[in-house]
Amino acid sequence: MRWHGIFSVALSVIPVQSLFVDEAYNIDFHHALLGIPQPHSTFFHKPDASSNAALLYSLSDKAVLGALNPRDGSLVWRQSLASQPTVNATTSFLVAGEGDGKVTTAVGKEVATWDASDGKLVWKYTARGEVKAVDLQAVPVLGSSTDGAVQDVILLTQPLQEGGSYVVSRIGGDGSGERWRHEDVDTKLDAQVGIATSLKHLFYITKSAGLLSGQRTKVVVFDIITGKQLKEYSPALDSETVAVDGRLASASGSEAPLLITSETPYKTIKFNLLGNNKVSTITLDDKGEDIVSVSAHSALGTTAESHFLLHVRTATKNWAEVYHINTATGDFKRAYSLPAIKDASAFAASNNGKNVFFSRATSTEVSVYSSQSHGHLGRWPRNVLAGSRTSSTDPIYAIAEVAIRDNTNTAVRTAIISPEGSLYLVRNGDTQWVRAEMLAYAELAAWFDYAQVTPLAQELSAEVSVDPATAYINRVYRHAKELMHLPNYLVKLAQGAFGPAEDKPSVREDLLGSRSLILATSRKQIVSLSGISGAIQWDADLPSAISDGAAVRSLAISEGRVTIYTSDGSVSVLNATTGGVIETKTGTIPAARIIELPGTPASTLLKVNEEGIPQVAVDLAPSVPLEGNVVMTQDQTGNLVGWTVGTTVRKTWTFTPTPGKIVAVTTRPEQDPIASIGKVLGDRSVLYKYFTPNMAVLTTMSNEILTMYLIDAVTGAVLHTSSHAGVLDSFPISAVLSENWYAYTFTSSNPETNALSTQLIISELYESDVPNDRGQLSAQTNYSSFGPDGNVKPHVVSAAFTLAEPMSHLTVTQTAQGITSRSLLAYLPGSHAMIAIPRHVLDARRPIDRDPTSSEAEEGLFRYTPELSLDPKTFLSHARDVVGISHISAVPTLLESTSTVFGFGHDIFGTQVAPSQTFDVLGKNFSKFQLLATVVALYLGVLALRPLVRRNVVKRGWL
Ligand SMILES: *[C@@H]1O[C@H](CO)[C@@H](O)[C@H](O)[C@H]1NC(C)=O
Ligand SMILES: *[C@@H]1O[C@H](CO)[C@@H](O)[C@H](O)[C@H]1NC(C)=O
Ligand SMILES: *[C@@H]1O[C@H](CO)[C@@H](O)[C@H](O)[C@H]1NC(C)=O
Repeated sequence: MRWHGIFSVALSVIPVQSLFVDEAYNIDFHHALLGIPQPHSTFFHKPDASSNAALLYSLSDKAVLGALNPRDGSLVWRQSLASQPTVNATTSFLVAGEGDGKVTTAVGKEVATWDASDGKLVWKYTARGEVKAVDLQAVPVLGSSTDGAVQDVILLTQPLQEGGSYVVSRIGGDGSGERWRHEDVDTKLDAQVGIATSLKHLFYITKSAGLLSGQRTKVVVFDIITGKQLKEYSPALDSETVAVDGRLASASGSEAPLLITSETPYKTIKFNLLGNNKVSTITLDDKGEDIVSVSAHSALGTTAESHFLLHVRTATKNWAEVYHINTATGDFKRAYSLPAIKDASAFAASNNGKNVFFSRATSTEVSVYSSQSHGHLGRWPRNVLAGSRTSSTDPIYAIAEVAIRDNTNTAVRTAIISPEGSLYLVRNGDTQWVRAEMLAYAELAAWFDYAQVTPLAQELSAEVSVDPATAYINRVYRHAKELMHLPNYLVKLAQGAFGPAEDKPSVREDLLGSRSLILATSRKQIVSLSGISGAIQWDADLPSAISDGAAVRSLAISEGRVTIYTSDGSVSVLNATTGGVIETKTGTIPAARIIELPGTPASTLLKVNEEGIPQVAVDLAPSVPLEGNVVMTQDQTGNLVGWTVGTTVRKTWTFTPTPGKIVAVTTRPEQDPIASIGKVLGDRSVLYKYFTPNMAVLTTMSNEILTMYLIDAVTGAVLHTSSHAGVLDSFPISAVLSENWYAYTFTSSNPETNALSTQLIISELYESDVPNDRGQLSAQTNYSSFGPDGNVKPHVVSAAFTLAEPMSHLTVTQTAQGITSRSLLAYLPGSHAMIAIPRHVLDARRPIDRDPTSSEAEEGLFRYTPELSLDPKTFLSHARDVVGISHISAVPTLLESTSTVFGFGHDIFGTQVAPSQTFDVLGKNFSKFQLLATVVALYLGVLALRPLVRRNVVKRGWL
């Protein structure tokens, strides 16, 4: 008995690991992303003339520019060119000069130059008029930049509306603006346009898209220094252009820029050396199959030899043909070809001074060839990164940098983009690192709790469903099996007791519960991340049966399965542990929105169509929604419609905001446990909170007037409204509703001073304004929203706070029981930070213009100040630069004190918050050894004193 007591004390101490002190970089994870690199704007480049090591520069299709360290893939610096990552930045350009320490970008109508080593803005130029950049090229610098040569760029802009003119202009690399410009009013908006530079000339190429007249290519040649038009000609090229990135010209910036065209079945290829009227024709050998694509690769250096490579693909083969150009005559000569192989290949051209190299990457090897001859200079089998999840995948495209030491040793670094959206860096054949850039496209997320599918949980539920005798045998058998793990367990216990306190993800996972985050991206991918460490567990493409344009509308997880609905009405089911496809059904009825409802035997999904009419989804195993679900949808005219969904779907109300339109509907989080129905005041009286599970906050905007409606979602009755004038919808407007309060934030401009101010409003709902009073409904045991008592309105207390900067995506922390106080979570787009504001700071009952009375102070209220300071020390993301968060999600952990928080949109950021401190965890400074030593010392003391005590007892007996 005594032994047992001591052991139970000891055992209860040991497994508790100490953590949560000084947690920055320990409890959080961050994927700092760029987005998927675009081939025409990704390259290795030395940040300045003096440095030996090149960085990998990339401008992604989300208009995020970054420099990566090729050694480990870490971000050296990053800039969002459109202030926030954008979804459709297909026309963005990046060029670098030779060794001047800068890189230049063009996005929209802005050209900017950035310091290549630290990413600071050097200068910015905005093009005139309603235009957007459609091409940007560096002007080749003759001589070295060290003798003062400036790296200028040539910008081509397209008018946004028909009637405007295309403009080619040379922009000074010293920030002095336009040096010369040439306007073209004739070319129509549907034409293809492009520019190319050579050492002396600028070529402006247009290709009109006349259906009747056929395509006509026109080349205008300018003197690149003066901008004077030298000549104009129309080469006889009338088919599709062949360039790696959809541009018109290849090898711009070299001695011999050229136009290459072809058309299906790509048997004849036509070439024109720009500036020369001659058109050469070459016939490709199709190796007995239909050629499906041809693309051209050439080195970019001004001094590089005029050689280029054509990558030819058929359904089953990949090969390349290398051509040499005679720059004097404009003739093309086929030099050699690279063998046709089955594996998907990506080719890249690079140069080292005069020498041009072609690299070939496949899923199994990397090889390098000189442009002179077909013998390979190096060939390496590809090795997977140790401990990596994925095997080598097929490359989509590659960017290479070749180094030759002592004229014999060839080494190559290849950056490879894989179809799933990862960026690999392969040194010779060895994968150095992988960046999961597809995470930047996450749109939806759901949490998967492993506890639901652990063998123990399954066995326990199996035991419930069988007869007692079988269950008993099962249990005995299970315990016997568990005994086999006892020795290991004891060893681990001993290590845990005397080893140092560890703060590893695995330890935290034991404590907090293991969950993973399942993300759906706009690229039709599903990715699973560990909720604690942020590591990728698996990724899967949605089955190819799902149509291309379909977007993921809902992710629902139950019983270890992820159910994914797409907008075309298809449904796919994946295994949440492995990502394996379990089942797919192609749909016919498109769904604009999917709502998950509780139902029997499993939860039910409701499909909402474009008209806002909900319908129970019957694609999978049928299940019936439970009675009394309330659902709100928006119809085509923008009205909000309330529905009651049970075995039947009934329309109950329609809400039309007057004036204005509904921009957002906010409801309480799905799990929003309430631990206390009242607020205990300093004098021990109670203010009762107003609750209803079916509340919603509507955000409506009309003409710079923001109106917030609090409605009862059962009847559509308005419980409270508030309005604010001068609100700007170009700034984030966000609302959150939880427990008995709601908060919202917006930015408005003062009509007199035009000063901008961001406000956060909090409103708390009580049953009555008098403590210890439950209002009109106190006597009732039940009531109906539709009955005469239904229109009882809550007592609302509000407070407004001014913030120093706009705030977006308000959310609230979640804990298992709701006992822990809550924090308001938000993203600060200006500071690139995620913040948690403790709820008690936002108490609407803080006394105004006076100090709190002693009873108010006892309640924790302190004097109201209109400014709410956003102290960087309280940022959840602390020093991290978290970009482009558009969703924040919080879930409970196994610890009541702690909530897991996760933000996504572009970057991925996850951490844990404990709004009331970690009251249920021992601190890091807790000494297990001291405790054990005390217990042992006490026990020894008891042993030592026992004879004495026994003697005393005997003595007393004799008295
Ligand atoms: C990108 O998409 C948004 C919304 O769909 C649109 O407003 C914007 O004009 C688009 N931008 C470009 C560059 O196409
Ligand atoms: C998911 O895969 C794992 C491992 O293959 C398997 O044990 C589990 O039963 C699967 N879950 C479902 C729901 O199919
Ligand atoms: C609600 O209470 C009234 C009496 O106050 C009772 O007659 C009625 O049956 C109750 N309704 C429900 C649904 O319990």
